[in-house]
Amino acid sequence: MKISAFGKKFTEKSGILELMEDLSSAITSEEKIYMLGGGNPARIPALDAIWKNRVMEIMADDEDFNLSLTAYDSAGSNFGFASALAAMFNREYGWDIGPENIGVTNGSQIGFFLLFNLFSGRQRNGRKQKIMLPLCPEYVGYADQPIEKDSFISRRAKIVETGPKEFKYFVDFDNLEIPEEAGALCSSRPTNPTGNVLTDEEVKKLSEMAGSRGIPLLLDNAYGAPFPNIIFQDVKPIFNDNIVLSMSLSKLGLPSTRTGIIIAREEIIQSLSAVNAIVSLANTTMGQLIVRPLIQSGKILDISRKMIMPYYKGRSEATIKMIEEAIDPAVDYRIHKSEGAIFLWIWFKNLKISARELYERLKRRNVIVLSGEHFFFGLEEAWEHSKECIRLNYSGNPEAVEKAVEIIAEEALKGLD
Ligand SMILES: Cc1ncc(COP(=O)(O)O)c(C=O)c1O
Repeated sequence: MKISAFGKKFTEKSGILELMEDLSSAITSEEKIYMLGGGNPARIPALDAIWKNRVMEIMADDEDFNLSLTAYDSAGSNFGFASALAAMFNREYGWDIGPENIGVTNGSQIGFFLLFNLFSGRQRNGRKQKIMLPLCPEYVGYADQPIEKDSFISRRAKIVETGPKEFKYFVDFDNLEIPEEAGALCSSRPTNPTGNVLTDEEVKKLSEMAGSRGIPLLLDNAYGAPFPNIIFQDVKPIFNDNIVLSMSLSKLGLPSTRTGIIIAREEIIQSLSAVNAIVSLANTTMGQLIVRPLIQSGKILDISRKMIMPYYKGRSEATIKMIEEAIDPAVDYRIHKSEGAIFLWIWFKNLKISARELYERLKRRNVIVLSGEHFFFGLEEAWEHSKECIRLNYSGNPEAVEKAVEIIAEEALKGLD
């Protein structure tokens, strides 16, 4: 097959491909697989009931039925949805945005593909622009998205041990100079893979630094406030002319509706929608229709605060307890402070094997986690720490998570020899 440079880059082995392959083999396997690897949200029965009810309401209404299934919608955003969302942000947080500040894409994953390729790559003057990640490790799903190779510049997180078995990453502002070639800064908040939440102060500083260079700060709020609100810290969504805020309906429990939301100044939304029309033609509308009345009534805030956040916080705390009970004291490990998202990030400090080898051994025992090295991309120098961490999704079936944790503890202990 005579493949292009684009074709070659996008078909090479990548972390996200490995993750998706593990996910589909877990779905099709006849053996019992303990799937702690993917990014699926939890099934919360009361929440599922709300979605089922909404889908039935949509099907019963001829106009909504038409919009959801039988007609192409816009490549920008559904007007009713975007108006409701803008009104909610203005009401709740005193923002001043309108539907023209809201773009929708078929999942925030493709939203980032479009944003990264708007802000990185060869400029018209021939110079190359890159995306700067101020805090690495960062979401593996970004790593292969820029069409041009070597389009990330990352900076190591500063590690602070915050408890006997706990640590937290911070942005290392002392070593954070934005290079000339940066076209945008980007951070997920809460962070996939670590559950870190940038403090309000960190976000303010990053936004100012980006602003002083005339480049945007892309903030990936896929897990954050006000929905799905899988965030255990008291922090606020922050928005200004210089911030591009991304959100998603996936972690609300609707990943299959493929609904990503980008909030930004109008000029950026217009560019994004123009590219989206070329690659997608139109957006899926089902997700936007499902949540629209819940956004209008504010019910989505209640659901997120009272149903979703407590569920995940409880599951995170219970899983940390399981890990602390299961892992032998001879194994020196730390768990990243769980401030949000659906993952726990474990740093093994004294294993004789790499996280990659631990991942392979766990896979042979039908436990799927993610090996940490995928999340360290764009760094200029090697970092031992990148070979010492694994990510697990704690939100699946609790018995399966418990069994998986026992196996992880056994394999970690064996890893000392
Ligand atoms: C930080 C982050 N951003 C973006 C995405 C993409 O989500 P989606 O395309 O389902 O909106 C994910 C998925 O897990 C994620 O963890």
